[in-house]
Amino acid sequence: MAEGRASRLKHVHVKVNGKAYEDMVESRMLLAYFIRERLGLTGTHIGCDTTNCGACTVILDGRSVKSCSMFAVQADGAEVLTIEGLAKEGKLHPIQEQFWENHGLQCGFCTPGFIMQAYWFLKENPNPSEEEVRQGISGNLCRCTGYQNIVKAIMEAAKMRVEVPVRSM
Ligand code: FES
Ligand code: FES
Repeated sequence: MAEGRASRLKHVHVKVNGKAYEDMVESRMLLAYFIRERLGLTGTHIGCDTTNCGACTVILDGRSVKSCSMFAVQADGAEVLTIEGLAKEGKLHPIQEQFWENHGLQCGFCTPGFIMQAYWFLKENPNPSEEEVRQGISGNLCRCTGYQNIVKAIMEAAKMRVEVPVRSM
């Protein structure tokens, strides 16, 4: 029985926020759970498990992904950036700062996902219209804010010409 379980375990090697990790995981383990439970990076939230809410958004090899929508083993060999990797030397990333300044959150549950999505979106479109921002975050849900201040925060971050290196690790 134990042998059967062992045979389901797969090797996964990822670089997360610049640090290399290796582990053996069940092939069905979702990346979101791997990040939270194996790596202890609980800033990546799980709001639905069904790819609807975007709370689990991370950057994987330069693209934003909902980390509940893939298995950890599919990230083998990849570079991942999570919300914990944005602040540098105790200083918030400008997108984080603008969420703070513009009250882009209430309970904060959705916030890491929105910030990671905004991080990727502003890399793709550094000078977006409000409509484009709304489109860019349309895969993320917030149950508190009504989105107005989230959009404002992202627009303000864009005005700062945020430097958003996708692989800053
Ligand atoms: Fe991944 Fe909701 S937890 S989209
Ligand atoms: Fe509460 Fe967005 S701030 S869900």
